[in-house]
This record gives sequence, C-alpha cells and structure tokens, in this order.
Amino acid sequence: MLALEPASLLVPLGPGITSAGFQLGDHEQVIAELGSLVPLEGLSQSAVAKRRAEYMAGRYAARRALAGLGIDGAPGRDERGCPVWPSGIAGSITHGASRAFSAVARASDVLGVGIDAEQLMSARAKDELLARICDADERTILTKLHAPEPALVTFAFSAKESLYKCLYPFIGRFMDFSAARVVEASGAPGPNGLEGELELELSVDWSESFRRGRRFRAPFVASAHHVETGVVLRP
Ligand SMILES: CC(C)(COP(=O)(O)OP(=O)(O)OC[C@H]1O[C@@H](n2cnc3c(N)ncnc32)[C@H](O)[C@@H]1OP(=O)(O)O)[C@@H](O)C(=O)NCCC(=O)NCCS
Repeated sequence: MLALEPASLLVPLGPGITSAGFQLGDHEQVIAELGSLVPLEGLSQSAVAKRRAEYMAGRYAARRALAGLGIDGAPGRDERGCPVWPSGIAGSITHGASRAFSAVARASDVLGVGIDAEQLMSARAKDELLARICDADERTILTKLHAPEPALVTFAFSAKESLYKCLYPFIGRFMDFSAARVVEASGAPGPNGLEGELELELSVDWSESFRRGRRFRAPFVASAHHVETGVVLRP
C-alpha cells in the first residue's frame, strides 16, 4: 500500500462543500512523504509517529480540499488546536482509524462545518463512555436505527463531535457531551452501509447566538467498522 491513498468522505454534506481524504499506510512513510509539504507548527515535538502522521495527513487533506475551491492555502492552528482557515473559508478536519479527511466551503455558502470519522466502539469502550455521551432517552431514540448499541453510541458521539467542531469557532469554549441531545434518528441501508441522520438539540445556551433548543441535522454513513458524521451551518 502507498503511504497515502485517496479516500472519499461519504457522508452527504450538501452543496458548496468540497472534501478530500486519504487512507493512511505506514506512519513513517506518511511522515516521509508529507515532510516537505506540511509544517508541524504547533504540534508538540514529542508527538509520536501516529499523531504526526495523522496531523500531517489531515492538514494535507485540508490543502487538497482548499485546492478544490481554487485556493492555494492551508489552515493554521490556534492555541487550542482548532484549525484557523483562510479568510472567507469554513472547514473541518478529522482523522483516525487510518483515515484523514477535510471538508471546506466558502463562507458565502456555509458559515460553519464540522466533520468526524470514527472507528465503531467496542462493547467495552461503549460501557466505559456511555454515561458521558448520551442518556437513557437519547438511547431509546437511537434504537430506531436497529444497530448494535456500541455502534449507536459511536454515532451519537461522532455527531456531537461534529456539532462541536462546527460551532466552536463561534463559541470558543469547551462544551461537554450533555450540551446537546439526540432528539431524532432515522436511517436505512444504502450503498455505503447504514445511512441516515441524527437530529441534535442544544440542551443549554452555547452562546447568545446559539441558544438552548436550537436544532441541527447530523447526517451519518456507517459501515461495519466506521461511522462518518457531519454538521453544516448555513447562512
Ligand atoms: C476537539 C475534538 C472534537 C476532536 O475530535 P477527535 O475525535 O478527538 O479527533 P478528530 O480526529 O476527529 O479531529 C481532530 C481535529 O479536529 C480539529 N480540532 C481540534 N480542536 C478543534 C476545535 N475546538 N474545533 C474545531 N476543530 C477542532 C483539529 O484539526 C484536529 O486535528 P489536528 O490537531 O491534527 O489538526 C475532541 O477531541 C474534543 O475535545 N471533544 C470534546 C468536545 C465535544 O465534542 N463536545 C460535544 C458537545 S455536544
């Protein structure tokens, strides 16, 4: 396998959004291949090879996604690790489970976007994380999707991370997983696996503009091992 093979982000994000992604091979090879292209600015010197490779691949995906909009640029990084996009651009990066993706859009089309790709949790990880991610009412709603509970909890986890990534540039502070709730879930088998949508509702005020009760759609696509989610904020 090559160090980086193109991979497509499957979750549908709607018009105006361009994405790029890669399946990652050997981490040292990824680092060697991207070393001259992606500066490690802001990343700890002690970051292990896996972290460096995923960081570089995510940033490289961002450059390729921006190139899809005709922009020759790359995101910076703020003190909390959030990407800082070129002026007039909204975007997001995710990596993990040997994949890295970025989605970007012009701010005239999209105010904010958050994407997240996760490996489905094991039953053990689900038991450990469940109480942090969703409550009993949310779990009841998720059962409409007829998937095993570790998958359902991963979908909720990923959708909430996408929401956080989408809104963080407007909020600028940490919000825990109880700050939004799953209030609806629908899905059906599709060409890429289980495809559908979660609806998330803010359970507290995130800011003056993003008040408790506001709802967001989080489409998802799940295979037997992974899930991808996204949240898009439009003007
Ligand atoms: C920041 C966070 C969302 C990243 O998600 P993750 O699943 O750990 O990792 P991913 O690979 O999907 O995404 C990592 C990328 O997100 C981006 N990112 C980091 N912080 C971010 C932020 N505050 N806002 C938006 N994007 C952010 C970065 O590009 C990062 O990659 P990089 O450091 O290599 O550039 C997660 O670590 C976190 O802190 N979650 C808790 C907050 C939360 O999700 N609350 C839910 C509220 S309902």
